[in-house]
Amino acid sequence: MELHEAIRRRAMVRSFASDPVDRAVVEHLLAAALHSPTAGNTGGTAWVALAGPDETSVYWEATTDAAWRESSPRWEGLRRAPVVLLAYSRAASYVDRYREPDKAGTGADVGLGDGMDHWPVPYWTGDAAFGVMTVLLGAVDAGLGACVLGNFRGEEALARVLGVPDGWQLFCAVLVGRPDGGDHRSPSLDRALPDIRRRIHWGGW
Ligand SMILES: Cc1cc2nc3c(=O)[nH]c(=O)nc-3n(C[C@H](O)[C@H](O)[C@H](O)COP(=O)(O)O)c2cc1C
Repeated sequence: MELHEAIRRRAMVRSFASDPVDRAVVEHLLAAALHSPTAGNTGGTAWVALAGPDETSVYWEATTDAAWRESSPRWEGLRRAPVVLLAYSRAASYVDRYREPDKAGTGADVGLGDGMDHWPVPYWTGDAAFGVMTVLLGAVDAGLGACVLGNFRGEEALARVLGVPDGWQLFCAVLVGRPDGGDHRSPSLDRALPDIRRRIHWGGW
């Protein structure tokens, strides 16, 4: 698919068919995600791929509770997603990288090698997001749908059950699967976005 066509067609899908996605397709999506840029070529991002209901239920069990599952109109459509991809990044990898000799001029003087609190911008989160965007576009290209879910609870329990090492932070989950045509509209879409002319500032803000 032509890139701009994929960008135009991409939209979050919140209702999935349960049929599995070929492992080769998932591997292709993740390989593309890991081809996205990382600051200093640190490569401090990683993914956990959960496929099939036995594995994806681990994600849902850890990050949702019974009250939400009973009340959310989206729950059934979301839970059917056959693949859940978890985007992680590790701040310490970036701190270590920017202590290396070739980064001495850029990072050391502002303390980037001294710890994550010294970073004006968390590159590790940005790098996780680059990978996520690549997966979203790759899913469209593969004729699939995807949805980003932020995480507000259960991150520690999830990391424990999945064996995620200390220091790796979950950025978000990406559900992937075949859209089943069900309603997946978010109330967020009812917001009027600021006019594009107020978001692009040629020659200065
Ligand atoms: C970082 C991030 C977190 C998001 N978290 C959620 C979420 O928890 N649940 C959800 O339904 N959509 C979530 N979304 C999707 C946005 O609501 C959606 O991208 C936005 O409304 C625009 O719609 P579109 O992506 O379909 O164009 C998230 C998107 C991003 C980028």
